[in-house]
Amino acid sequence: MEQTSHSLDPADWSELRALGHRMMDDMIDHLAGLRDGPVWQKMPDEVRKNFKKSLPAAGTDLSSLYADFSANIKPYVTGNTNPRFFGWVHGGGNAVSMLADFLCGAMNANCGGRDHVGIAVERQVIAWAAEMLGMPTGASGVLLTGSSMANFCAVLCARFAALGAAARREGFGRQKLVAYASAGAHRCVPAALDMAGLGSNALRLIPVDKNFRMDVVALQMAIVEDRAAGKRPFLIVGTAGSVDTGAIDDLAALADVAERSGEGIWFHVDGAFGALAALSPSHKPLLAGIERADSVAFDFHKWAQVTYDAGCLLVRDAAVHLATFEQETNYLAPAARGMAAGQPWPCDLGPDLSRGFRALKIWMTISAYGSERLGAVVAQNCNAAMRLAVRIRQNAGMEVVAPVPLNIVCFRLKNFSDGEMLNLVANLQEKGQFVPSTTTIDGRLAIRVAVVNHRTTNDDVDAFFKQILRASGAIRF
Ligand SMILES: Cc1ncc(COP(=O)(O)O)c(C=O)c1O
Repeated sequence: MEQTSHSLDPADWSELRALGHRMMDDMIDHLAGLRDGPVWQKMPDEVRKNFKKSLPAAGTDLSSLYADFSANIKPYVTGNTNPRFFGWVHGGGNAVSMLADFLCGAMNANCGGRDHVGIAVERQVIAWAAEMLGMPTGASGVLLTGSSMANFCAVLCARFAALGAAARREGFGRQKLVAYASAGAHRCVPAALDMAGLGSNALRLIPVDKNFRMDVVALQMAIVEDRAAGKRPFLIVGTAGSVDTGAIDDLAALADVAERSGEGIWFHVDGAFGALAALSPSHKPLLAGIERADSVAFDFHKWAQVTYDAGCLLVRDAAVHLATFEQETNYLAPAARGMAAGQPWPCDLGPDLSRGFRALKIWMTISAYGSERLGAVVAQNCNAAMRLAVRIRQNAGMEVVAPVPLNIVCFRLKNFSDGEMLNLVANLQEKGQFVPSTTTIDGRLAIRVAVVNHRTTNDDVDAFFKQILRASGAIRF
């Protein structure tokens, strides 16, 4: 009797090959022509409806699906590949990483563990990250979705360091652990404490100075106060590149406070995008002290231009990192030989067991461009932001509302109400010209421009400035 094959591979590969080549050509054209299209466009209702269908029982021909993708998906994505996308600290991606994503799909490697090259590539990338930040050679690390996850895992490491192995089995009873971060810390930091079961109230937000950096004296006072109240300070989170303004805490001073506390306070740095400033020799000194951190969270998908998603956690003490996450299970028992060799596996360094081959696109991006060229992109973005800030400062109708240490400019239009500024931003976005975003600085709404894309030039920020002038009618250019 003849058997039916349910393999998903085609009987004849030639059609798929031809379509695959076309897709590759189209996507290369797409990247090459980014400047010609809108930054973002709102998806029409019919497109939204297209994604509210019931589960398809029968398959659809791939060429019609690709036509659907071209008409209904490709035009309506975030637009952060475009050089005029300045919203929310999104990275621009790069062509090499796109190709690596394709290769990664073909390999379909599960990088949770086992002895294969995917794990070796990830360890290489972690070693490069440690080298970049001046952490010791033996530092451990793991690739994760992004810094939200990496910050969460760092809190778990700090919790382990404070309470030891027993707490992993028994919970942490009445221990009143308390952590500290600046008032400008990202929202994922309180979320990490919440998810770690410590409660977001276990995070004390320390006021910032006029440069939006954590007030170190206030931090020291808070620690003394908390100890006196019977609490246990266990973690200081420094921010290297705050999401609102790009402020970098005095990391060396925070490292001193943690070190001198005498009770083993864990020093973690949230360097989601700012840690990558280490690639630029002229910006690296701003991060002094990061090399003393117990752990650092950052994203290759932001300032290293790797395609989403590519977050990273580095942990100085490899033993603590492993002890925080490792689990013994029969079906994942280590072996001396064969494919089950090669511990520690990434599944024992974070919460995920099945994991894709994220390391490939990071390894290919860093290898293809080299750290110097990636560092030059960081410097180019910071210079573009500074250029914009200078133009704004020179204009009587506008004000820059926070210092610009890196790549983020927050400003207001003096004669505009908050509602008018929100409208202006939405108009720019809806016209597809530019995508800035907004935030609140010192209780006042501000327009926020984050320059993170390697494609962004000075001409792009000049064009943005002109457009703001035109749109606001503030003063003639
Ligand atoms: C300072 C900071 N921390 C954490 C995050 C969260 O990172 P992710 O979006 O990769 O989870 C961000 C995101 O922009 C950030 O700017």
